[in-house]
Amino acid sequence: MFLRITLKKRLWNKYRQSKHPDIYERYQHSLAVLKKALEIRKTFKLPVMKSQVIAASLLHDYAKFVSREEFSRIIEKYQLDSSILELSPQLWHAFLGPYVVHEELGITDVEVLDAIRYHTTGNLNMTLLGEIIFLADYTDDTRIEEYFQEAKALSKVNFYGAIAQKIKQIIASNHHEISQELRLMYEKYRRLDGSNFNH
Ligand SMILES: [Fe+2]
Ligand SMILES: [Fe+2]
Repeated sequence: MFLRITLKKRLWNKYRQSKHPDIYERYQHSLAVLKKALEIRKTFKLPVMKSQVIAASLLHDYAKFVSREEFSRIIEKYQLDSSILELSPQLWHAFLGPYVVHEELGITDVEVLDAIRYHTTGNLNMTLLGEIIFLADYTDDTRIEEYFQEAKALSKVNFYGAIAQKIKQIIASNHHEISQELRLMYEKYRRLDGSNFNH
């Protein structure tokens, strides 16, 4: 409980400093992702530490309002590929968030940092924690639009099927070139879904 309270406070303080108009909404979303991620862990009896679920879900959007200048600094400091900034700005907070979270909160758990890194795009080698956050971010209580309802319904009964549904929708909404990795991810989760693997 202490971890949850501490991270909520740190998250809100970080958002408040940005003075961005969407901080309240984004904070509510972060809390809803926490609730959803814990629900998924429980429903499917997933063997993941609760503290990791709490940290990764509360912090997955920690860098949402970080400025482009700050991201540039991080890219320079860690000698990252600067073409990250040519990707959609929607992706910066995911790919660069782990560095911000590590620097400002001292988080060193690689699984938590990777779950933050891939919460938007997913990844072929997601850990169970990564899968939980990837799904929770798409099916939390703030996702009220019709668009999310199928994945939300699946997320209560079929863990891998719900993940496959999110990937399918990402592919369908991607107007640009569809990456080979997304196709492979979709096949992977359809296969896992079809095998009726039970946790
Ligand atoms: Fe995000
Ligand atoms: Fe999010």
